[in-house]
Amino acid sequence: MNAIADYRTYPLISPLLSVTLTPELVEVLWADQRRSPFHALWLRDNCPCEACVYSVTREQVFEIADVPLDLEVRAADIDELGALRVRWQDGHESRFDPGWLRAHAYDNDSRAEREAKRPRQQRWVAGLELPVFDYAAVMEDDNALLGWLLAVRDVGLTQVRGVPTEPGSLSPLARRISFIRESNFGALFNVQSKADADSNAYTAFNLPLHTDLPTRELQPGLQFLHCLVNDAQGGDSRFVDGFAVAETLRMEDQEAYRLLCEVPVEFRNKDRRSDYRCLAPVIALDARGEVAEVRMANFLRGPFDIEPARMQPYYRAYRRFIEMTREARFQFRQRLEAGQLWCFDNRRTLHARDAFDPKRGARHFQGCYVDRDELLSRIWVLQR
Ligand code: OGA
Ligand code: ZN
Ligand code: ZN
Repeated sequence: MNAIADYRTYPLISPLLSVTLTPELVEVLWADQRRSPFHALWLRDNCPCEACVYSVTREQVFEIADVPLDLEVRAADIDELGALRVRWQDGHESRFDPGWLRAHAYDNDSRAEREAKRPRQQRWVAGLELPVFDYAAVMEDDNALLGWLLAVRDVGLTQVRGVPTEPGSLSPLARRISFIRESNFGALFNVQSKADADSNAYTAFNLPLHTDLPTRELQPGLQFLHCLVNDAQGGDSRFVDGFAVAETLRMEDQEAYRLLCEVPVEFRNKDRRSDYRCLAPVIALDARGEVAEVRMANFLRGPFDIEPARMQPYYRAYRRFIEMTREARFQFRQRLEAGQLWCFDNRRTLHARDAFDPKRGARHFQGCYVDRDELLSRIWVLQR
């Protein structure tokens, strides 16, 4: 029975007991007494038969606009394998695996259950218990890899130890997740103080709390910073959970929060060969209205272009956000040593480094980016 258009398996949570039919709805009763209504259009839309879903790609070839809006179910029952069988007015027949059907049921209880199981991110402040992982383990063992990736997703800041200190060693680790996202700074960029720096990152300055490439429509999802040498004095790393800051601001100063969500500002990154610009608000929300992204690098920001009446209030909000990132209650601070790396959610976790003295010892980090989609896809596949 080809009754699942998917690559995952859906365990049977509860068998189907009975089916009742009304003009628009097929309602099933499960053995655990839950009742789930399914609209005729929903069932037809999700028919997994070989005419509706191409078995090679497991993608739909049928479109719901191919049948009338007032499509009718002719008959519905439970077949000998326990699947829901639906016969349509045009003679088409659909079968639904009960594990799949239960996993996608949209009665109120089933939806509340799915909502409760949705992965929840943990917010953190200065006292973060840093999730630390072992390089050899995540390179060799898929379970260790999954554990690390879940921490990147849910905590947004992790450290990996035992990484070789040869230049380039970061690439195979990043590729355990997926493609590296290249930028004008290279697939792998070198973070070193240099005279002809094309970014404040490539100096020995204090680098305030920021996200990388806020100048792009899509900021890189993950950032890696791998320490090859850190013999310089100073240069410790600092991090802030940007979502914790944004949510605290929402509670403490609603007006500032609203302005940071609403007013777009321009971030710019220019050198002799490139000129990147992005106009976007500092805080972005997702479809649920929850904080989903922070965009902030003061050293890459253009002049505010805001209506006069909002300029002063916006400065107040923008300053407030930066002041909060500077507060000790939010800051996690640690020096990165040779053979260690940071991997963090660049659209959530702001990072910074203290100034250092390049004359008193070498400091060389290598970095790269991987997008959030790649992380989430890798997690789904590892969890199959
Ligand atoms: C960067 C950066 C941090 C550091 O290169 O974007 O933030 O510790 N570097 O040098
Ligand atoms: Zn079909
Ligand atoms: Zn940076």
